[in-house]
Amino acid sequence: DTPTFTEPYRPQFHYTPPTNWMNDPNGLVYHEGTYHLFHQYNPEGIQWGHMSWYHATSEDLVHWEHEGVAIPEEGNEMIFSGSALVDHDNTSGFADDGDPAPMVAVYTSHYTLDEPDPDTGAETDQAQSLAYSLDGGDTWQKYAGNPVLTHNDANFRDPNVSWHEESEQWIMTVALPEQHKVQFYASDNLTDWTHLSDFGPAGATTGIWECPDLFELPVDGDPNDTRWVLQVDLNPGAIAGGSGAQYFVGDFDGETFTLDEGISEDDTHWVDYGTDFYAAISWNDIPEDDGRRLWVGWMSNWDYANDKPTSPWRSAQSIPRSLHLTTVDDEIRLTQQPVEELHTLRDTHTTLDARSVANETVSLADDGIAGTTLELVAEFEPGDADAFGLNVRTGNNEETVIGYDTASESVYVDRTNAGEDSFHDDFAQRHDAPLAVNDDGRVKLHVFVDWSSVEVFANDGARLLTHRIFPDAESDGVSVFAEGGTAELTRLESWTLNSIWAR
Ligand code: FRU
Repeated sequence: DTPTFTEPYRPQFHYTPPTNWMNDPNGLVYHEGTYHLFHQYNPEGIQWGHMSWYHATSEDLVHWEHEGVAIPEEGNEMIFSGSALVDHDNTSGFADDGDPAPMVAVYTSHYTLDEPDPDTGAETDQAQSLAYSLDGGDTWQKYAGNPVLTHNDANFRDPNVSWHEESEQWIMTVALPEQHKVQFYASDNLTDWTHLSDFGPAGATTGIWECPDLFELPVDGDPNDTRWVLQVDLNPGAIAGGSGAQYFVGDFDGETFTLDEGISEDDTHWVDYGTDFYAAISWNDIPEDDGRRLWVGWMSNWDYANDKPTSPWRSAQSIPRSLHLTTVDDEIRLTQQPVEELHTLRDTHTTLDARSVANETVSLADDGIAGTTLELVAEFEPGDADAFGLNVRTGNNEETVIGYDTASESVYVDRTNAGEDSFHDDFAQRHDAPLAVNDDGRVKLHVFVDWSSVEVFANDGARLLTHRIFPDAESDGVSVFAEGGTAELTRLESWTLNSIWAR
């Protein structure tokens, strides 16, 4: 099949590969005006397999150029997830005099063994390896001395490397999935690694741990009050079922990660309460004068990733989001915002007058609000309603509900009747996230609707719900609703969003 980017369910403003299978984002790195996005990719098909790194680039985080496979599977070695960085001081020695700074990818080599390991019976092995580019990411070479880090465990993967200013060394954060541990290693040259410490088990441990990320953020925007965030993915057992992401807030001193005072090892903090946000990692080397910490996550779930009803490609990355630590309800919470760059996609803008919604569902078609690619900002005062919110992608007896439940104080996405769902038994469900009303006594829903997804940023990113949906192409309606009483809709703004593929 030749990709057209107009196939049924093809995301219009989310990154997708033209054809074939994709999973985790890999090697997110910024270099001289270009955002690089690599990702897990099967060059040979639309199911997981033959894992390789595919490469895409963007000048604006919104429009992406497909660059093709950068680091291929070879022989008995698949290229699993990892990170990328720019080795500005050529600590690796990969560059010769006159070469530009090497861009280095640090990934997991997944080896299929010729014979099972005589001690453990394992048929595969995982170790950390390097590839480098001396032309800004265009062409890649695997390091001849691979792998650079081994560990006596069949599961040892997803190295996340960045420069640690304070201790002036490279730090690798890497998962021991079955042990529910993250390990930290240090290096001066990216090729020799010294073990520093382990973190875990902690938080949610019902599934394996994968794809860690470690970064420092200011609390409430105060550069003099920072914390370190360790994010770790979990599969299965996440809050919405299947795979999902958790995070820990604490300190990293160049050697050890310690939880913040008052945070218990037994507490679990979820990055997103939806079903479809996994394996997110953040961009390395964003310039200091920008200062943002940005990431994307894989918009899928290992429960049904291989079965989603799309062709000739499978999966999407989330919209890029900025990360923040914000004090919410006396807790330092990881909050997220859609990047401002997405404003460039805004087309038709509609603003609604404030209105009461009294035990009814009101279509906004007559107000000119409808579409299959939309950004919506809605603010409600709960009044005496039991529930209220928005329905999107309505039509043909289907709808995706983005609501607030006043009794349980939770924001939710209900895709029980959102469209095609026959590919997985547990797909058609409602998922809730605890959320108190904001300081103004309101609930604010910032929603991105695409051909096969909804992303909800509730109360300025205090809670996230990311979901795939597979509605009919004709289902473009939007409505507001209240149940069991009257809610006040104090604000509703809508923008239709342009496709990133039509230029
Ligand atoms: C997470 C993951 C990683 C691994 C990659 C393989 O989704 O399982 O742990 O490196 O996918 O494709």
